[in-house]
Amino acid sequence: MRAICCKTYDELSAYAADIVCETLKNRPNAVLALPTGSTPLGMYEELIARCGRGEVSFRNSSFFILDEYVDLPPAHTQSYNYYMRDRLFSHIDLPESGIHMLIGDTADDDAECDRYTRLLDSVEGGIDLLILGIGANGHIGFNEPSDAFFPDTHKILLTDDTVEANARFFDNPDEVPRFALTMGVRPMLRAKKILLLAYGSGKSVAVAKALNGPITPLLPASILQLHTDATIVADEGALQLAAR
Ligand code: F6R
Repeated sequence: MRAICCKTYDELSAYAADIVCETLKNRPNAVLALPTGSTPLGMYEELIARCGRGEVSFRNSSFFILDEYVDLPPAHTQSYNYYMRDRLFSHIDLPESGIHMLIGDTADDDAECDRYTRLLDSVEGGIDLLILGIGANGHIGFNEPSDAFFPDTHKILLTDDTVEANARFFDNPDEVPRFALTMGVRPMLRAKKILLLAYGSGKSVAVAKALNGPITPLLPASILQLHTDATIVADEGALQLAAR
């Protein structure tokens, strides 16, 4: 896994947007998977602007969400379904048929995970471009530190630090869901190209371990070392502890 150091958040966002545009230029019907959270917001703004100027089109592409909170309906303003529509999908020329989301408020979580696993398996050759964020604890998607890697889409109990980190988006910290559904690591490793975005010194320990530490489910992002085209796109703060 290699690392690219960007001077500013804008530079990081533009770099990631460049890779998205290049992927779509080479393959207009590319399949992408995207994260929520704070880090990718600049990239989404950049993609919306470029799409508005006609520099990129999402008309033939399709997108997968990485994860979703259990029990939050898609219309809930803190759901990741809502986030993706609000921050990106509603502002670009992506057709509804190209949107694949996990539904958090189903009656049967296992059935929903199986549906998503089958859908991901049906992507011929794997996801073209997988973009990830990273938790301060090293999670990717909501693959939290654990004794084992979970290959396929699964339900997970969020760690206390993740719940605490996500509380900033909720009016009342007690409303933060404790469970989530997340893509597992198998479709991630099957992706043709992976970008992991990391911004700020709060991510420096996780980034250093992901890049240079042992491959362990205790630091889920470390599994990306097994991928032949995985790049961490980060700022100086996030890379300050990494050996380069
Ligand atoms: C969100 C997700 C998470 C975030 C991570 C970083 O869909 O999968 O892994 O990418 O928690 O979040 P931010 O960017 O808010 O620091």
